[in-house]
Amino acid sequence: MGKVLVTGVTGNLGRIVLEKLLHKVPASNVKVLVRDAEKGEAFKQLGVEVAIGSYDDKASLVAAFQNTDKLYFVSGNDVANRGKQHENVVNAAIEAKVGHVVYTSFQRKNETATSPIHFVAVTHLLTERLLRESGLKYTILKHGIYAEMIPLFIGDRPLETGVMFLPAGDGKTSYLLRSELAAAGVAVLTEEGHENHSYELTGSEAISYEDLAAKISAITGKQISYVSPTPEVFAAELTNAGVPAEYIGLFTGFAVAAKEGEFTNISSDLERLTGKKADSVDTYLKQVYGAK
Ligand SMILES: NC(=O)c1ccc[n+]([C@@H]2O[C@H](COP(=O)([O-])OP(=O)(O)OC[C@H]3O[C@@H](n4cnc5c(N)ncnc54)[C@H](OP(=O)(O)O)[C@@H]3O)[C@@H](O)[C@H]2O)c1
Repeated sequence: MGKVLVTGVTGNLGRIVLEKLLHKVPASNVKVLVRDAEKGEAFKQLGVEVAIGSYDDKASLVAAFQNTDKLYFVSGNDVANRGKQHENVVNAAIEAKVGHVVYTSFQRKNETATSPIHFVAVTHLLTERLLRESGLKYTILKHGIYAEMIPLFIGDRPLETGVMFLPAGDGKTSYLLRSELAAAGVAVLTEEGHENHSYELTGSEAISYEDLAAKISAITGKQISYVSPTPEVFAAELTNAGVPAEYIGLFTGFAVAAKEGEFTNISSDLERLTGKKADSVDTYLKQVYGAK
């Protein structure tokens, strides 16, 4: 029998997937892919096999993917360059005859170049197409926005100034935690019947930034209001504050996408896979903002 291979285990999501997987599958049946041998050492202590390989190097992936029944493929974080990387992963999976590829894609409605997050979307859409055309068995996990992105999107300023400033209008997002997404991924990896399916993994309610401001106000006891500037005013403010252009593009893109309703879907797929709704965003907000 082949192994279950998890990529991205040195990152936030893959680490949790591995942790949850090891509750269900013996370590001797699990393999991880890391691109830095030094980082791989820690995983050897868990009893899993450590394969060294990079999405940039197809040959390393073909070697790493040998004897793999299921591959949990974490999308790369080098958004500008991951098209070729993901192509390498899919081609290596074909060459190594991987049994089933589970890919972490993204939640969306607008798949055209008019999407404010097209710069992120384009490589996910490419990868989904490559998988569908590959002849491999695949599962596409359309991940909603991580609740853990909230502190990044709103920054520390609301707690200092009492104003949350983001060009998202009254757009809503159905956030969920990485751990909830990881639980769904592990269900797909350890159960039968998910081949060639796509799942929409979302939170169980969609909330606006106004709602978020109210929640954080209640937690902190400090009145926080929400202001939605135009994307241009937002970009100018962040530029003045010294935020790098790359981040301004990212924050603006996701805020405007939220405004356009890209992330409002609420699906029962997570509950069907894990037996549990995504219901931990409030708990997470209390953890993050409760002590401040
Ligand atoms: N849904 C959302 O809200 C959301 C938010 C942010 C990101 N994402 C996407 O979800 C993915 C997982 O999120 P995360 O928070 O776990 O990201 P993360 O902490 O940045 O982890 C990314 C992982 O991918 C690995 N990786 C990157 N490039 C690689 C390459 N060329 N070859 C092999 N491994 C490579 C990294 O390895 P190293 O340790 O070697 O760098 C790391 O283990 C991200 O990469 C991104 O595509 C989704």
